[in-house]
Amino acid sequence: MKVNLPMPRLVTYMRISTPLEILVKANKKFIISLFLTGLTAAASCTLVSKPTQKADVVTVFLTGNELGTMKPCGCSGGQLGGLDRRSAVFNSVPAKSRLIVDTGSFVEGDSEQDIIKFDIIIRAFSLLGYDLVNLTEKDIATAENLGLLDGIGSLFDVISSLKPTDVNLAAKFTKKFSLKSETVAVTVAAFDAESASIEQIGRLFTAPPGLQTVNILILNRCGPGIINSITKQAIVDCLVCPAESDEPALLSAPDKKPLVVSVGRFGRYICNLQIKPAKDKGKPILSFGLIPVEEDLPQDSSLLALYEDYQQLVKEANLLERYPRFPLPDGLEYTGPESCKGCHEYEYEKWSATPHAAAYATLKTVGSAFDPECAVCHVVGMKYESGFVSEQKSGDLKDVGCEICHGPGSEHTKTLGTAKTTGPKLDCTDCHTPETSGEYAGNEELYFEKITHWREPKAAADVK
Ligand code: HEC
Ligand code: HEC
Ligand code: HEC
Ligand code: HEC
Repeated sequence: MKVNLPMPRLVTYMRISTPLEILVKANKKFIISLFLTGLTAAASCTLVSKPTQKADVVTVFLTGNELGTMKPCGCSGGQLGGLDRRSAVFNSVPAKSRLIVDTGSFVEGDSEQDIIKFDIIIRAFSLLGYDLVNLTEKDIATAENLGLLDGIGSLFDVISSLKPTDVNLAAKFTKKFSLKSETVAVTVAAFDAESASIEQIGRLFTAPPGLQTVNILILNRCGPGIINSITKQAIVDCLVCPAESDEPALLSAPDKKPLVVSVGRFGRYICNLQIKPAKDKGKPILSFGLIPVEEDLPQDSSLLALYEDYQQLVKEANLLERYPRFPLPDGLEYTGPESCKGCHEYEYEKWSATPHAAAYATLKTVGSAFDPECAVCHVVGMKYESGFVSEQKSGDLKDVGCEICHGPGSEHTKTLGTAKTTGPKLDCTDCHTPETSGEYAGNEELYFEKITHWREPKAAADVK
């Protein structure tokens, strides 16, 4: 099957600079470690104590559906996720008794920024010591576009239920674990019920003789029909379905075979399967768990460095300046807070002291000032022609300025305040979402009070 994605944006991206060039420029040492992934993985295992003792369980870490989320934005406390915190979870289990698998869907769309993310995410997987990555149809298309499909297998093992014409991708992968009492072979395969018949599943799982086996099947489509037929075959021990929630979920009864699970989205949790070998001739026992990637987990410095490379790539691709912009209605234009100051000095002074007036500085502190995905809530009118473009070209429109809430000021200022301000105006909840502002809901009044910059009606009357 040949999958095609629109190309034009990629062409521009490639011209600007190849990711590798920048990575090399940014950090020579780091790039070396990238290609010696075995070494990196081995080094990071030193965190684990007592490596000599054999484990009696295998832990399978399952992730997937990053959908472009590499790190939570850091807008408010308590956010889960971040590739940089995954290693702490993975390294809690010695490499000898763990299997790390990503089920695919690294990015959401096919924008230039998505393509940069794709490249960074696969490098992150390599640094994190992933054993296996499943490529979805979209992942294959993006990798092909980037010219990475051939080389991706040198970073980690790759499987897919799809067969791109020019590259030979395996459909299954097996890793053996020698535990205290038993050797367990875990096979992970990918299957697409629309392009193959259920009977073919048997061929994916040929059991190595004399070993206890665990068969995990990643499905790119799930439904009661498929799950039923696969259950009847009694070959598969664990079925992985596409995610419908951010949290990984157990979709079957915990003691039924197969265990049906989904791995969640946006990297907020890591799904873990524990495999306990059977005592006699029975089947190993599987159990489902999920680990929240919490903000008190340590951050891996090589992953943090990789994220800085990402920020650098986004900056060099000039995505913020090249963001698509539309004209405002009625020929209106943004004029910036300085243009309000003369007539609304009180409001201006009050606003200047609120965090809104430092929102762009915040992005600079964390290195994301050139990331349009962040700027959209930290500057004025990024989506409009007279809105924020860059600090040099439109520095007066950085931060959460007056016109975000009151609308573009050109008519109002031209008419010396006679024409009332009109839309587009944003509401608090357009930016203070559950994701970016966890404390907002339920504390609206407190938030409102904190930004008060208007005079009390009484005081205004006094002033005349
Ligand atoms: C949907 C709008 C939105 C987007 C997109 C957004 N932010 Fe924010 N950001 C906010 C809001 C709202 C706050 C204030 C939250 C609060 O205090 O309740 C905030 C606060 C922050 C803070 C904390 C400021 C402080 O002083 O504590 C940081 C850091 C930050 N954002 C960084 C980012 C980065 C980096 C990105 C992009 C990856 C981003 N933001 C994307 C809305 C957004
Ligand atoms: C030349 C003086 C002048 C300038 C410049 C000016 N205003 Fe006003 N503004 C007024 C006057 C006069 C009123 C109406 C009387 C009042 O309520 O103070 C007003 C009223 C308002 C109001 C309440 C009524 C409405 O339109 O919603 C808002 C909000 C407002 N201004 C925001 C702004 C913002 C934002 C800017 C800068 C983009 C700005 N003004 C620039 C003079 C000005
Ligand atoms: C364009 C997006 C946007 C809109 C609309 C917006 N805010 Fe904010 N708000 C932010 C950002 C970004 C920050 C973080 C600023 C920083 O510290 O960098 C913030 C911070 C705040 C803070 C400071 C929070 C703290 O922890 O100190 C308060 C309070 C606040 N906003 C209230 C409001 C209210 C009330 C409204 C509606 C009237 C509103 N905001 C509308 C983006 C927005
Ligand atoms: C985060 C949103 C937000 C920002 C930013 C903001 N305002 Fe306001 N402003 C409000 C809200 C909310 C009110 C009070 C309720 C109302 O009148 O809508 C208000 C009230 C006002 C009033 C009084 C309006 C009246 O009807 O009496 C003026 C004037 C005003 N703001 C001007 C400004 C100026 C000038 C700036 C920038 C220096 C600014 N505001 C920044 C949200 C904002």
